[in-house]
Amino acid sequence: MPTQIIALGGSLLRPEEAEQRTIWFGQLRQMAVHFEGNGRKLGIVVGGGLPAREAITLAKESFSDSYRLDTVGISATRLNATILQQSLIDIGCNVSPSIPVTTGEASDLLETHNIVVMGGTTPGHTTDAVAVALARDCGAPHCVIATNVSHIHDSDPKTNPEAKPIEELTLSELAEITGTEALRPGESAAVDPIAVKWAMDAGIRLAVLDGRDLSRVEDALEGRPFIGTLVKAE
Ligand code: UTP
Repeated sequence: MPTQIIALGGSLLRPEEAEQRTIWFGQLRQMAVHFEGNGRKLGIVVGGGLPAREAITLAKESFSDSYRLDTVGISATRLNATILQQSLIDIGCNVSPSIPVTTGEASDLLETHNIVVMGGTTPGHTTDAVAVALARDCGAPHCVIATNVSHIHDSDPKTNPEAKPIEELTLSELAEITGTEALRPGESAAVDPIAVKWAMDAGIRLAVLDGRDLSRVEDALEGRPFIGTLVKAE
């Protein structure tokens, strides 16, 4: 059974409703226990969400260099990763006690632990790209990108009410939607264009779905049909 990799958007750690957040965290912990119980390995790459946006906004008061702003964003992703890592250690999961700083290190840690949680690595991309790189380094054929939208759309649903959800497309078709230019520090997109490029380079299939409903994540991880967008490598 290959190692499974998930990019967990940082916004998922902070849904508006405190009650929903507690339920979601409980379900996530259950999913990890269940996964581990079946002898499977899981690499989780956590996004920065609200702390990243807040920290980047604060940092922009004193400097504007993208590399430095990305460095601030990375520290927020590692903060969120630490929350999840400690929460899984707390319930007795075999989680790596360190948060790796490279995907190579994470891949090595997955040899000796069932679960590895990490955040960002280097400036110039988001945690979506880190998850794709981790999938590549672990030899995983696909990567789940759990975000807070149901599907990839043919245009931005925030600005175009006519935007249509897409059930299935190829990585090259996705690259046409996302473009190829790197995002600015803290900038959001359905999928990071660098992640799409790296997925194309390594031939990694993506499942892009709404991680607020963890049953969708579980379906994708188990290879069942899932609600979301399947992005084929070809
Ligand atoms: P995220 O991965 O959280 O961005 O990184 P995101 O996907 O847009 O947001 P959420 O969490 O899913 O809502 C936050 C910021 O941290 C820096 C970038 O500035 C990014 O915008 N970052 C993150 C890096 O520079 N390198 C990384 O490997 C990860």
